[in-house]
Amino acid sequence: MQEQNRTPKDREHIEPHDDLGYETVSGIKMGHAKVPKFLKATYIILAGWAVYYGITATTVNDRTDAVGPIEVTAEAGKEIFNASCAGCHAITNQRLVGPGLAGVYERLGDEELNNVLHNGRPQRGMPALPSLNLSEDQIKAVRLYLITLK
Ligand code: HEC
Repeated sequence: MQEQNRTPKDREHIEPHDDLGYETVSGIKMGHAKVPKFLKATYIILAGWAVYYGITATTVNDRTDAVGPIEVTAEAGKEIFNASCAGCHAITNQRLVGPGLAGVYERLGDEELNNVLHNGRPQRGMPALPSLNLSEDQIKAVRLYLITLK
């Protein structure tokens, strides 16, 4: 091929354009594989975050377990009562779905109260507290609260 017949494309084929930051191979511009600084910084930050996350991450279970153990107090029991029992029981003598629980401790006595809380009366519509997903500590707290109901 005569020099004067070469198209600019042909010349590119041969001549690298180092000054332009790329060279052309068979008419395709090939960039120099230089990673820009900001991308390097991004990679490093992401890698650091990944390591940090890997070390500090906890499972969902660990996070929910961290809520307990609950305090075994009448106050804690009141909150549990309002969340799990108040739909069926008033703390007065008023009957809702179940009997009002005013004076329930005097009425039932220690043993029967424990029995009702742990075993319920399933045939009569009173669920056992463990079946409401209450832990032993939560049951103790509810029991302390019920004792305060006169
Ligand atoms: C779905 C309704 C329902 C829920 C929820 C419920 N109860 Fe009951 N409960 C009843 C019924 C109905 C009875 C009466 C059973 C019977 O006739 O012997 C009862 C009975 C009782 C008794 C015995 C009362 C008595 O005078 O003999 C106690 C104590 C009691 N429930 C406590 C609780 C506590 C504490 C909770 C919450 C953790 C709770 N209940 C949640 C329906 C419920």
